[in-house]
Amino acid sequence: MTSLDEKIQELQEIIDNAERIVFFTGAGVSTDSGIPDFRSQDGLYHMQYDYPPETIVSHSFFVNQTEEFYRFYKDKMLALDAEPNYTHKLMADLEAKGKCIGVVTQNIDGLHQKAGSKKVYELHGSVLRNYCTKCGTFYDAKYIKESEGIPRCEKCGGLIKPDVVLYEEGLNEEILNGALNAIESADVLIILGTSLVVYPAAGLVRYFRGDKLVLINRDVTPYDSNADLLIQASFSDVIPKLKV
Ligand code: APR
Repeated sequence: MTSLDEKIQELQEIIDNAERIVFFTGAGVSTDSGIPDFRSQDGLYHMQYDYPPETIVSHSFFVNQTEEFYRFYKDKMLALDAEPNYTHKLMADLEAKGKCIGVVTQNIDGLHQKAGSKKVYELHGSVLRNYCTKCGTFYDAKYIKESEGIPRCEKCGGLIKPDVVLYEEGLNEEILNGALNAIESADVLIILGTSLVVYPAAGLVRYFRGDKLVLINRDVTPYDSNADLLIQASFSDVIPKLKV
C-alpha cells in the first residue's frame, strides 16, 4: 500500500468517525470543473495582462476602470457552464448524511450549491448575484455575461456590480460570523484547494478547536504543519477513492 493509500484510509476513518465536519475550500476544488485557480502555475495570476489581475479585481479598479474590469471579469471569472465535480459532491453527500455542518468557501462560482450543499458560507460572495448600485435591482450572471460593455440597470440606468468581495472591500459580517461559529463547533475541519494566503478568509481556520484538522492541497501552504493529516495530492487521486 502506498503512503497515499495509507493517508486516504486515514482520511476515510476520520470521516467515518466524524459528527460535525466543516469544509474550508478555495479555488482548487473547482479546477476539476474547468475553472482555473489563481496561484497555481496555470492559474489566473500567472497569465499576462495589462495590469496584475489582483489590481483588476479591486474596488478602485472597478470604480475607475469599469469597462476594463468587466472585460476581465466576463472573460475570466464567469464560467456559467461549469458543473460541480466529485469534490463538491462529496461535501454535499456528507451534508445529506448529517455529517457535514457547513462549507466555508472563498469561491464565487456557486458550484457547492449546484452540487447540493445547503449550508454554504460564501466569504467572497457569488457571481450569481448582481445588483444595481443605484436602485438595488437584482440581475443574474447571464444578464452580466450577455451585456455589451458595462452592465447597466434596465430600470434606472445605474451601474450594476457583482455581489463579489473585491480587494479593498470588507467581508459580510453575518457570513463571517456564521462561518466562524461553524468552524468553532466542528469536530473535524477539512481544508481543500486553497493556498491560504488571502486574509481575513485564511485566518478563519485558526478558530478550529476540534479533534482532527485535515489539509488536502497539491502545493504547500503556510498551514501544512498544523494539519493532523496532510495530503499533498490532486483531488482526482484522492476523492474518488472515498466512500460516503
Ligand atoms: N487538486 C489539489 N489541489 C489543487 C488542485 C487540484 N486539482 N487544483 C488547484 N489546487 C491547489 C493549488 O495547489 C493551490 O495551492 O489549490 C490551491 C488554490 O490556491 P489559489 O489559487 O491561491 O486559490 P485560493 O486559495 O482560493 O485564493 C484565495 O485569492 O484572489 C483571491 O478572492 C480570490 O478567493 C480567492 C483568494
